[in-house]
Amino acid sequence: MKSTAGSDAAKQRAGEAAAEEVTDGMVVGLGTGSTTAYAIKALGERVDSGLDVAGVPTSFGARQLAIDQGIDLVGLDEVDRIDLAIDGADQFVVETGDCIKGGGAAHTREKIVAAAADDFAVVVDETKLADELEYPVALEVIPAAQPGVETAVETAGGTPRLRQAANKDGPVVTDNGNLVIDCAFGPITDPKTVALELVEIPGVVEHGLFVGRTTTAYVGTEDGLNVHRY
Ligand code: A5P
Repeated sequence: MKSTAGSDAAKQRAGEAAAEEVTDGMVVGLGTGSTTAYAIKALGERVDSGLDVAGVPTSFGARQLAIDQGIDLVGLDEVDRIDLAIDGADQFVVETGDCIKGGGAAHTREKIVAAAADDFAVVVDETKLADELEYPVALEVIPAAQPGVETAVETAGGTPRLRQAANKDGPVVTDNGNLVIDCAFGPITDPKTVALELVEIPGVVEHGLFVGRTTTAYVGTEDGLNVHRY
């Protein structure tokens, strides 16, 4: 489930600014989505000019784009650590740096990459900003667990909805072969507690709440860029 409200210019400013932080020899996590795509393209241009980096893609889409841009890739299981991961978000709170991800159904690999990274840079346009997280939280779910997960989400006060594919009959299937259930909780006043509750549900592979992970946020606006450090 995606919000597509932000302008391309604002996304581009955010993505390109994050790509500028990459230096020679870095292992870089390559996030998923339309904003990170600008970062990957900018990195590709710098690679053309001689920058030496290895990218760790977070999705099939990020991998394809990185290959198109001539960026050398390395598997998540082939690196001990990542220097910097760059990724987008569906909703972002400037005050805390917390965000909701998973609009592109890639949040499981995105979180593994973010967790392995020394620095996690979030790139968003200003339409993603909110005072409090309330965007539906994406759960990647093992298919057989769908009914049980939906019941558990309802018990936790959420409204679950199985994500349907746009150009295929039936549900979205992730890069890992699982389903996605979007869960509306209304305003989430305590994201850490909700995150812990979701982790406890059997069959949930990963949820889209990213709490306490952001080290820098690049927020593209219509006429500029705001950078927040955590
Ligand atoms: C992918 O699963 C998501 O976490 C994306 O990073 C998120 O949806 C942001 O994408 P956009 O930059 O396209 O809005």
